[in-house]
Parts: sequence; structure tokens; C-alpha cells
Amino acid sequence: MRILFVTPELAPWSKAGGLGDATVALGKALAAKGHEVRAVTPLYGSVPGREKMGTLIESLKVGVHGDPRKAGCRVRTLTVSPKFEAWFVEHEDFYGAREIYPPRDDAGERAAFYGRAALDACLTTSWIPDIVHCHDWTAGLVPVLLNTTLKHTALGAAKSVISIHNLQHQGLYPKRIMAYLGLPEFLWSPQELECLGGVNFLKGGILHAGKVITVSPTYAQEILTPAFGYGLDDVVRRRAGALRGILNGVDRDEWNPADDKHIAKAFSAQQPAGKAECKTALLRELGLATDRSVPLVGVVSRLWEQKGLDLAVGVLPKFLREGKLQFVLLGSGDTWLENEFKRLATDFPQLCAVRIGYDNGLSHRIEAGADFFLMPSRFEPCGLNQMYSMAYGTLPIVRATGGLADTVTGWDGKKKGTGIVFEHADQGGIEWALRRALELYQQPAAYQALQQTAMSAEFSWAKSAEAHLECYLA
Ligand code: ADP
Ligand code: GLC
Repeated sequence: MRILFVTPELAPWSKAGGLGDATVALGKALAAKGHEVRAVTPLYGSVPGREKMGTLIESLKVGVHGDPRKAGCRVRTLTVSPKFEAWFVEHEDFYGAREIYPPRDDAGERAAFYGRAALDACLTTSWIPDIVHCHDWTAGLVPVLLNTTLKHTALGAAKSVISIHNLQHQGLYPKRIMAYLGLPEFLWSPQELECLGGVNFLKGGILHAGKVITVSPTYAQEILTPAFGYGLDDVVRRRAGALRGILNGVDRDEWNPADDKHIAKAFSAQQPAGKAECKTALLRELGLATDRSVPLVGVVSRLWEQKGLDLAVGVLPKFLREGKLQFVLLGSGDTWLENEFKRLATDFPQLCAVRIGYDNGLSHRIEAGADFFLMPSRFEPCGLNQMYSMAYGTLPIVRATGGLADTVTGWDGKKKGTGIVFEHADQGGIEWALRRALELYQQPAAYQALQQTAMSAEFSWAKSAEAHLECYLA
């Protein structure tokens, strides 16, 4: 099959969160099964290695109706893996800046443009996909275009799929987007794209794609309800018959403690000894005390409401004051929360380290060196870090929601489980979970048994790709 991805993130070229990891890993896994994969994505100013890229189309005229001087782009290309090419849409005005999601007045046009460019690039090169797989809101109007404006082109027979990686971000932009993309007027209705006086990109994708995928079975159930639907649960319910939950996986090329250039010492389930060295090296790197026999709890995360870390920051001082654990956080997001965590590090200099910013190497060292990894998310469509943690023998402490519920098995008090699972998204829930983690850490035989189970859990992208293929063909 020929499979086209339309995605705003493709790691390592662009990544704001797990979406970049997911699209590149799924693309590789599909290509490894013999399919031809192309991923169209913007060439942001921050994309590295453009000198190694080739040119697929020097000058592509894109079918949008705005300022004609801004309707053209170049399409650059490089090979990601055998049979998998990335196509980068180069348009200085839209994507020349470094940010992936900058707040701009023309953010709607900016998203719509590369979606339409993806389809025009296929038509121009006569590379006609069987499947057009759109990822998240920026690509949401692509299935709409395929069903309307482009229905009578060579692309009209392609099946479309949308993956919801996060229903909270929907892309709500002014009505003028309809004219910009040349969409027919009947789509301007509350039954269609209209939403709160604007065009809702993700709503369009959910209504028009042939299949709707989300990234875990539990999240697929959750988004049918108002509590998780962010106002679109009725729209998701309309498509319930086309909805599938398919788990993400772990890309072992990137996340493998036996072969990871970022960490102090290699280790594996069979030879776990190196993990202790990784912990000591990490504590040193962070300037924390190395002489405590308490667990190190790690976090790598965007600091947004979704992640529930505002709840954790209220609970941690109690544990740190008692000297019961050490804590490291790497992340960025809401300024007030960044400041709260910085204050925690100032208050407990031997026990707590906080790094604000983005640092891929350090994220690997935290996964390798921590004893537990905390993810108290209010909602979590899939979550990748809990799976990376398990691969590194770092037991996840997670709230039972979305993909966290689907991938982590709570400790049974004996030797079974792969982590600590708690129910309530409140401070009491997190405190309970941390106390339980401490209790587990006091029992080395149980802790090591869980580590072994966690490290041998298989979260494979090959399996995920298989499920995607089944869904494409159903
Ligand atoms: P989300 O996509 O909602 O942020 P995921 O768990 O799916 O959550 O994926 C997050 C990804 O982003 C992981 O690969 C994680 O390591 C990475 N990440 C998040 N924050 C940082 C950071 N500050 N530095 C390095 N990597 C980060
Ligand atoms: C989103 C979700 C996260 C998921 C990722 C990749 O960013 O918040 O839970 O793992 O997409 O699918």
C-alpha cells in the first residue's frame, strides 16, 4: 500500500511531545512491513539537517485562495528508512520561525496550507496514496478536502484516517478558512465544521475521515463521554462505529538501555547492574546527594494542566521534608508551575533538582537513573514516557486514565505488577501512590520482580502497525 501521513511533528526533525515520536515510529514500522510511506510535514526554522535534504518539487502551486504571493512552496525530501520518505513543506512566511505551534493571527491558514500542499504534492508527482492518515488537528481539514473539493481528482478514491493524539487541541479558526481552502458552503453548519462561530479543524477530520483512530483503547472509550470530550464527545459518538483505540509503542532504536548513547552505563533485564551506576551518575550530574538510600522519582513532561503536575507540586514538600525520596523534573510549560518547581529545588537542594527546558539526552538519563517515574495525568491519550520507563526498569507511578491504564499494571502488594496505579486526580491520590511506591521500595525482592516484569513488557510498534493496517483495510 501507499500510505501518506499528514503530520505537524516528525521526530527528530520536529517534536513538541509524543506526537513526533509516534509518527516517525509508526511510519518506520509500516515501511518495515513493505508499505510505501510518505510523511508530509512543515519545514520549521528549527528543523536540523536541511543541507542533507533533496528537492522533490522546486515550486509547487498550492490550491489555496489567499494572497497569491504566498500560495507557493518548495517540497524538500529525505529518506527516513527504506520505503519511508519525509516530505518537508518549505514556506518561509508560514514555517520559517522555530516554533511548531506559534500563536499567530493566521495560524488557521498556516495549518490548512501544508495539508493542502500534501495533497497537491501527491497530485503533482502522481504518487497517489491508498491511505491518507492525518494526525491531530492541523491535518483535520484534509479528509474534508478529499470528500469535497478534491473528490473528483486522482485522490478521490483514497481512504482517509484521522488519529486523535489529543482531543483537547482542536484548532478553532475564523470562517474565512472555508474560502481559503475553497470548501463548499454547506459545510458551514453546526452539523459540519462550524463550532462556536468558527471552523473546528479536528471536528472536520472526525466527521469526514473514513476511520477515526485514537492512541489507546481506554482513551477511545473516554472520549465518548463529556468528561473527556472537550465539547466534541457528541461528534465522536456520531462516529463511534468508525472509532478504534490502538496503542503506541516503544521505538527500540531510540529507547533501549542496552544501547543508549546518552546514558552512563548500559544495562538490560538480564544484566541490570548498570542501572545503579546510571542513578549515581544522574545524581552527580544534577548536583544531588549520592549517599541516601531513598528512591529517586523522575518526571519528564510538558507542564500543562493535562499532566496533573500542579497537584504533585503540592504533595512533594511533605515527602522531601521527611527525606523519604529524591526528585528530579525536566520540563517546561506554564510559567507559574515552572516557578513552583524551581522553588522546590531551592528549598531542598540535596534532594530535588529541576531543569526547565527541553533536553533529549537528559530525558534518557532520567529514564535510566530514576527508580520511579511519576505521571499523575488528568487525562492521557496514550503517554509514551511510562512505556519508556518500563523499558528502563523505572517503575511508573500513574493515574488510571487513557493509555496509562492500558499499559501499567498496579502492584498487587506481593510480586506482581509493573508500577503503581492510582485512581483519583487529586493530591490525596498522588500522596497515596507515593507512599505505596516507598513501601514497595522497602521490599527489594518485590521491587526487583516488578522491574523484571516491566523490562520484559513488549510495547511494539510492529504490533501497532499491524493493528493500523487492519483498520486501514476494514
Ligand atoms: P505528550 O505528547 O502529551 O507530551 P507523551 O508521553 O506521549 O506526552 O510524550 C512526551 C515526549 O516528549 C516523550 O518522548 C518525552 O521524553 C518528551 N519530552 C517532554 N518534555 C521534554 C523535555 N523537557 N525534554 C526532553 N524531552 C521531553
Ligand atoms: C499526545 C498525547 C500523548 C500521546 C502522544 C502520542 O501528545 O498527549 O498521551 O502519547 O500524543 O500519541
